[in-house]
Amino acid sequence: MSGKFIAFEGCEGAGKSTQMRLLSEYLQKRGVSHVVTREPGGGEISEAIRKVILNGKFTAMTDECEALLYAAARVQHLADTVAPALERGQLVLCDRYIFSSYAYQGGGRGLPRAFLEAINSYALEHFMPDVTLFLDIPPALAFDRKHGVDESDRMECAGEGFHARVYAAYKALLKEYPGKFVAVDCSGTKFETSAKIAAMLEERGLIPRG
Ligand code: TYD
Repeated sequence: MSGKFIAFEGCEGAGKSTQMRLLSEYLQKRGVSHVVTREPGGGEISEAIRKVILNGKFTAMTDECEALLYAAARVQHLADTVAPALERGQLVLCDRYIFSSYAYQGGGRGLPRAFLEAINSYALEHFMPDVTLFLDIPPALAFDRKHGVDESDRMECAGEGFHARVYAAYKALLKEYPGKFVAVDCSGTKFETSAKIAAMLEERGLIPRG
């Protein structure tokens, strides 16, 4: 497959969608063919699974069921959207991927890594991103920026302790995957962050130099 695969990670409200939009505009201006997609979702079946996972009414969902649904949405999304785009030689920008499962279901929910690796083995073996960028903002600050919790979103409602564990798990993953999982300092304006991201991707040869 000739395309490149870039994933974006971060806590709720870290600004992933804004940064992905700014990068997409930058790529468009320069004629770089790309696809912007997200997890869970990015296709008809995966979007249907997303509605089940995030439904605020499903408070009885077990942690294992949650992890399996994310993994199921991921496999379908790879088949429907990511693989065809990579085969066409396009750049794929994906909002969340495998490290979300490690951080949220592993760090947040406390599920063992071995279980998460087993249910995500297809993605791990065939579709690891060329790089995953971590938009680094502590969850309390990010929730402030987005003006609080969305009560209808099951994951956002999981509590402060949960989101602190997710952030800590991301920090540990940065150490575990040097060069593959890379932090972006988001303390500046959104345009400063966007320029940093473009420069990082250019340096790695993932997008053409400006
Ligand atoms: P979304 O609305 O996309 O959140 P955000 O805007 O913060 O990206 O919802 C995705 C939610 O799913 C988010 O809370 C993170 C969570 N998630 C997991 O827990 N595990 C996963 O593997 C993935 C992909 C997402």
